[in-house]
Amino acid sequence: MNYKRSVVLVSCLFRKVWTCDITRKMSSGKYQVYITRSDMPESGIELLKKQCDIKMWHKPSPVPPEEFKKSIPGVNAIFCTLCDKINKEILDAAGPELKVVATISVGFDHIDVEECKKRGIKIGYTPNVLTDATAELTMALLLSTSRRLPEAQHEARTGGWVSWAPTWMTGPGLAGSTVGIVGFGRIGQAVARRVKSFGTSKILYFNRSVKEEAKEVGAIKVSFDELLSQSDFVICCAPLVPETNEIFNKSAFEKMKRSAVFINTSRGGTVDQDALIEALKNNTIWAAGLDVTTPEPLPLDSPLFKLKNCVVLPHIGSATIQTRNTMSELSANNILTALNGTNMPAELK
Ligand code: NAP
Ligand code: GLV
Repeated sequence: MNYKRSVVLVSCLFRKVWTCDITRKMSSGKYQVYITRSDMPESGIELLKKQCDIKMWHKPSPVPPEEFKKSIPGVNAIFCTLCDKINKEILDAAGPELKVVATISVGFDHIDVEECKKRGIKIGYTPNVLTDATAELTMALLLSTSRRLPEAQHEARTGGWVSWAPTWMTGPGLAGSTVGIVGFGRIGQAVARRVKSFGTSKILYFNRSVKEEAKEVGAIKVSFDELLSQSDFVICCAPLVPETNEIFNKSAFEKMKRSAVFINTSRGGTVDQDALIEALKNNTIWAAGLDVTTPEPLPLDSPLFKLKNCVVLPHIGSATIQTRNTMSELSANNILTALNGTNMPAELK
């Protein structure tokens, strides 16, 4: 190693050690962490407690932004959920001691990633550990919507079940169908493996890149319009980014089959919700199953709740007990490694 590189390396190391040291001194020996929910799974909090002083929003509902800003000056880490907007204002309120934002979610559309990068703030998230849970929920929602489970249960409970009937409560089956998946990443692929086991005849996907993993399930890459026009089930598993914002609009619903079932377990923002309501009312498509909406929670007077051909769930994709514990532990480890200057297990680059 030449002299110049050694000097740079030593000065970088010095800066790192010095920064960590300052952080610790500021907090009388322990890192300061702010957690935005009182019901964050305990297993992650236990991991943090050994090295951190924890301050926590005291309710199991989102911390109001003003309260959030007041609570974070000087913290070294924010442990947040997908409900907390991490924007310039929040980062300013936290100040220069903030080293890491860890979200207990794989989606990061609530975080101003560029602003964090500019300030050298690391971002931790929870990919992979929630893939199976979210794919399972996607299947549950798909089958609930196509086989009309909420409607059927309502009929059974309210006297609508008069006798077995040949055409009553019928819906489209997965076996022999064509399934189109928009966003063929971790969750999209896990959904593909599951729908294949139901005997689908074809799986199509729309993604920017070609996915090698598609071969495993025989999925075919097509254009967005081809996917819409050919699929019996259209499933959105893409992240919310500018290019996917309201990608499911009036024109998209008009390109789908009238018999199509639309499922969204990604983000509400990928859908023009007014256009979806019209498409469901006019039977432009057959039904929709939504785990995500705009806004969340969906107001009780939303027309979506009045439509028999729509199933709405309250954003529970990753909500298995084990998964949420693992997500909490992963978030805690993201925070501890970022603060200690070692490799984060799941850093958003
Ligand atoms: P991922 O592995 O990153 O997959 C996302 C896929 O979308 C990638 O294959 C990506 O491939 C594709 N994509 C990105 N931008 C696109 C674009 N503009 N057009 C088309 N495809 C695009 O993420 P994941 O772990 O599967 O999670 C996906 C999303 O699910 C998350 O971002 C989150 O919003 C949502 N989610 C929801 C729940 C829930 O509770 N309902 C739970 C977990 C996750 P290319 O880059 O090649 O296009
Ligand atoms: C849930 O929506 C997540 O992004 O993890």
